Amino acid sequence: MRVVFLGAPGVGKGTQAERIAVQYRVAKISTGDLLREAVRMRTALGLEAKSFMDQGKLVPDAVVIGLVQEKLADLSCAAGFVLDGFPRTVSQAEELGKALASKAMALDRVVNFQVSREDVVRRLSGRRSCPKCQATFHVDFAKPKADGVCDRCGESLVQRSDDQRGAIETRLKVYDEQTAPLVRYYDDRKLLSPVDASGAVDVVFQHLSQVLAPYQMR
Ligand code: AP5
Repeated sequence: MRVVFLGAPGVGKGTQAERIAVQYRVAKISTGDLLREAVRMRTALGLEAKSFMDQGKLVPDAVVIGLVQEKLADLSCAAGFVLDGFPRTVSQAEELGKALASKAMALDRVVNFQVSREDVVRRLSGRRSCPKCQATFHVDFAKPKADGVCDRCGESLVQRSDDQRGAIETRLKVYDEQTAPLVRYYDDRKLLSPVDASGAVDVVFQHLSQVLAPYQMR
């Protein structure tokens, strides 16, 4: 299974990528998580990425492409992968195509998550994240067992700096301008599957499983 999860910020890509990775035993490659980890570890790459991320802007292509290529080279990706949040520009999509072709691989599917703008803003503004293990929660839709504490590792939950209203607006604008063209790009290549992601997490997972069922076994 080699799939890309595409969609505006907050549509639920990360939540579903986590579940698909467990269910189908494929690697999950989330550029947002990788970049946040680099920021947390204060690496040179993290320091470069931080100001872009805080403002809700895209990190330069060269930085992100390098990160993903490193991960794809990892053997754990051989059984399959789900790419969450990558590619996000046409140039990233072209580089991904080349990197896969060089390994005699190709994408099976690109899932386009669809949720109304109103719901996306609600999901993002209520999200609480674990800075340590990257688990995500929501103040209304996915409450942690103990208020403000990560169920998985016990760390205090935080609101991501880019989940503040100003940054959310920038992220949605950036999505429209730089990432939305990928819908057409992958549709032209007959890879796109739209998925209604407006329902509850379990309902969306069912839709997704139907779309991905043909790619479970190779
Ligand atoms: P990234 O972390 O990838 O952010 P994003 O794409 O904006 O996506 P989100 O993580 O905000 O949302 P999601 O769709 O994963 O939703 P989630 O499942 O968390 O990127 C962050 C930044 O890094 C970017 O802005 C950029 O600066 C940089 N970056 C990353 N990749 C890059 C790239 N390729 N190129 C350049 N820069 C890059 O869910 C959201 C909330 O909703 C959660 O609280 C969740 O609990 C809740 N929820 C989920 N599903 C449902 C549901 N069905 N019903 C109700 N609530 C739900």
